[in-house]
Amino acid sequence: MQTETLPAMKPIGFVRAPYTATSEVPKGCGTTHTAEGVLEILPEYQEGLKDIEGFSHLFVIWVFHQSEKCELVGTPPTDDRPHGVFATRSPYRPNPIALTVVELISREGSRLHVRGVDMLEGTPILDIKPYLSSVPAEKLKRGWLAEAEKRKSP
Ligand SMILES: C[S@@+](CC[C@H](N)C(=O)[O-])C[C@H]1O[C@@H](n2cnc3c(N)ncnc32)[C@H](O)[C@@H]1O
Repeated sequence: MQTETLPAMKPIGFVRAPYTATSEVPKGCGTTHTAEGVLEILPEYQEGLKDIEGFSHLFVIWVFHQSEKCELVGTPPTDDRPHGVFATRSPYRPNPIALTVVELISREGSRLHVRGVDMLEGTPILDIKPYLSSVPAEKLKRGWLAEAEKRKSP
């Protein structure tokens, strides 16, 4: 596909989250995201939520809309060594697209109550998909992150 034929994207909704600044979002080794939030889907896309209630977890694809730079190599909060952007979950990417797995708590019309948000209040949502992992835990390799966690553990 030629770049000039890429489709224009528009938000399907916005995140209601307890965080208004990036410094408020928990970071670093061993962080688990337990904050609750709401995915508010725009009325014109509500029909697309049909049957979503049956899934326990969702992939949320969203935009780092407050990210103003791109760093091809950077040092993440989980390590003191630099890594390539495509080997991290850095907000400083050529295309500022993010992916978060959240737990679906309940649905109220076009509002999805979820647990596990790591995005800011007002973040635009591009897409939602059911989370279906088929990779067995024993086959997963965590790369530099496993090494960083080992170095930091007491
Ligand atoms: C490390 S990124 C990971 C995001 C997502 N889970 C992923 O893997 O693509 C999460 C960080 O992005 C920053 N962030 C959250 N929402 C943002 C937004 N709307 N614009 C820019 N930065 C944001 C916060 O500092 C947060 O700690």
